[in-house]
Amino acid sequence: MTRVGIHDISLATGQHVLDLDELAAFNGTDPAKYHVGLGLDQMSVLAPDEDVVTLAASAALPLIREHGTDGIRTLLVATESGVDESKSVGVWVHRLLGLPAGCRTVELKQACYSATAGLQAALGIVARNPGERVLLIATDVARYDLDSSAEPTQGAGAVAMLVSAEPGLLTIEPVTGVRTADVDDFWRPVDRSTALVDGRLSVSAYVDALTGAWDDFAERGGVPVEQIDRWCYHQPFTRMSVKAHQRLGRHVDAPLAAEDLDDASRYNRRLGNCYTASLYAGLASLLDHDDDLAGRRVALFSYGSGSVGELFTGVVEPGYRSAERALRHAKTLDERKPVDVGRYRELHRAAVHTSDVDIDIPVASGTPFRFAGVRGGARQYVAAEHLAE
Ligand code: HMG
Repeated sequence: MTRVGIHDISLATGQHVLDLDELAAFNGTDPAKYHVGLGLDQMSVLAPDEDVVTLAASAALPLIREHGTDGIRTLLVATESGVDESKSVGVWVHRLLGLPAGCRTVELKQACYSATAGLQAALGIVARNPGERVLLIATDVARYDLDSSAEPTQGAGAVAMLVSAEPGLLTIEPVTGVRTADVDDFWRPVDRSTALVDGRLSVSAYVDALTGAWDDFAERGGVPVEQIDRWCYHQPFTRMSVKAHQRLGRHVDAPLAAEDLDDASRYNRRLGNCYTASLYAGLASLLDHDDDLAGRRVALFSYGSGSVGELFTGVVEPGYRSAERALRHAKTLDERKPVDVGRYRELHRAAVHTSDVDIDIPVASGTPFRFAGVRGGARQYVAAEHLAE
């Protein structure tokens, strides 16, 4: 059988960063609640000329530069912060990246889960046509109301993955455990720009989805827990993955320890929640930090409120380590410009635009792709001059 999986991976995030110590000082919270209780240190904040389209294109650009566009006949973009009810984020990204016209492009939605549905679809496409590659991008900005208890768990980020036969990073194994249950734990009605959430219910719904997906995985012949070497979870806040991991340990009667998750949470502690991209930012973090992954089996758990969970495994390829990729990701995080709470609150309020008024968004960041404004109701995106040449 053809091996199929993730050939390469790339992370992008917003141009700004808010240190959660600053948010804690502003709202009178003990900073330890954020650092220890939630396991978050920072959150990415978007500049006015960034959104999920620009993040998605920026994440994919290094993959296109390194691997070209040949054989990419499918572009899947997973997001729950799409900018149009009809046109998919991917169609703008397709133009910005210069992908071939012979390409199917679609947007996927089911809260934070949909990138995993995209990955499974991509694996099927590649298994049937091993000469094709699928560009899969997860891109999101997590927004809750200012001054809400969910506020410290915001963030933003995008992860692009090239899915192919004979993958360079992770061969995905065929057995997968899935679980769907109708729960009102987190949702965003179409007339709102921020999500509504029942925090406590969301935590228990996540854990129920994990144990349910695990049971389905086991029933379908998935490997026993002892044969899993590393774990990678959806991380709305990194402590959530620790809680879930320990709960799974009790469920399967195995000693699953919090330290197992350290390398997979390094980026997420600094990004905050990035919804669909969160699990795959965790995977990028694991691949960039763990020196002993070759041949190891990684379990990945994807959760999207509402709710859908999926647990699956992959085996890491021998040549997975890339100093260049790790450096690029470190720069992406390190080079964000800090904002204070006042500026962050301004940016939060200014991020929503109506479509009935034309606006120009001035250049606000040095990103390769920009949201330039709204013309005749349509959003405008441009590539930086050096890319347009
Ligand atoms: P909260 O009420 O502010 O916090 O909401 P808390 O009182 O529950 O405290 C949080 C933790 O900090 C607790 O730890 C405290 O003990 C600890 P726990 O007992 O749970 O282990 N704590 C401290 N630790 C050290 N020093 C201190 C201190 N004080 C308290 N001084 C909540 C927290 C996560 C509910 C809120 O931020 C929220 O609603 N966030 C959004 C929802 C969310 O992220 N849910 C996660 C599961 S759902 C999911 O993953 C899907 C999602 O990504 C969306 C999608 O699918 O699209 C959200």
